[in-house]
Amino acid sequence: EKGGYEHFMLKEMYEQPKAVRDTLEPRLSNGKVVIEELGMTDEEIRSINNIHIVACGSASYTGMCAKYIFEEMARIPAFVDVASEFRYRNPILRKGDLVIIISQSGETADSLAALREAKEKGAMTLAIVNVVGSSIAREADKVIYTWAGPEIAVATTKAFSTQLMAEYLLAIKFAEVRGTVSEEEVDDMIQDLKRLPDQIQMLLANRNHIQKFANRYIAARDVFFIGRGLDYALSMEGALKLKEISYIHAEAYAAGELKHGTISLVEDGTLVVAVLTQEALFKKTISNIQEVKSRGAFAMAVTVEGNTEIEKTADYVIYIPETNKYFTSSLALIPLQLFAYYVAVARGCDVDKPKNLAKSVTVE
Ligand code: M6R
Repeated sequence: EKGGYEHFMLKEMYEQPKAVRDTLEPRLSNGKVVIEELGMTDEEIRSINNIHIVACGSASYTGMCAKYIFEEMARIPAFVDVASEFRYRNPILRKGDLVIIISQSGETADSLAALREAKEKGAMTLAIVNVVGSSIAREADKVIYTWAGPEIAVATTKAFSTQLMAEYLLAIKFAEVRGTVSEEEVDDMIQDLKRLPDQIQMLLANRNHIQKFANRYIAARDVFFIGRGLDYALSMEGALKLKEISYIHAEAYAAGELKHGTISLVEDGTLVVAVLTQEALFKKTISNIQEVKSRGAFAMAVTVEGNTEIEKTADYVIYIPETNKYFTSSLALIPLQLFAYYVAVARGCDVDKPKNLAKSVTVE
């Protein structure tokens, strides 16, 4: 059932190119993004005032990515909440607010309760869900399915990748209707989306390198992940993957926040993983890498091809191939997944079923 792979997690990582393609292809028609199940008129799309994204765990990190994209590409104010907070804080929802609930299982108790809360307050609700016919899918006004197929490993991988894809498509659709991107830009973005599955495949093929590197960190006490903007959102996912399956303490920080406290935890040999995929922010994050290095950190960087400048600062560099600036998370994700996986394997952890964790959290 694991198809020759040692763990479901590894198998599911390798299913990402297909999962991403399956989520993309049904929504492309004649070179355009067509999301039939969205069922929103252009008028409705134009009248969205705010987007509230609500989810738990990794799904909330894809939501953080989506926030940056909705705001920058479609110029729609977007807010992200974890569902357990949103549901109890009497959120302010107004006419024209769209609430997007993201969930792999569609059964997460807090996300379901948040959805009900949003509906009660009269907001339009849209669910991005993987499990067909799940509670969240049934109750939301609209559903966009991620076609990742069944995900068995507790640590999400392919569902995460497909959530990103669904969010890219939605952002492009909104941006196009609201006139914040040109036709040419849309064409270019669609070409880049189509390239993602092969690029993910290529990054997966690099696994041996990352395994070797991961083997050096099996006794790490703390690992810090840093990034800015979209890369901060992805750092959250990198840290969660490592914690949940390897039980190594890991934390993510917005790179600029480091010197407001956390940097005091950096010691000789502490691993700091920096994600730098946004050209406009390279210099800023490089200077943060210099800061941690001067306190003895070992710096691993995940960056885009061509940013060779980084080699002057980081100790170990993984390059991702070129894509649109909005889609880099789909690629930078892969080495972070592989790193967490191989650290956990080397530590002899039960990768698919980490202690204390359930695949879907159906009670509060
Ligand atoms: O099924 P959901 O997407 O609603 O689950 C949300 C979280 O419980 C989930 O992403 C969790 O954080 C994973 N273990 C992460 O790998």
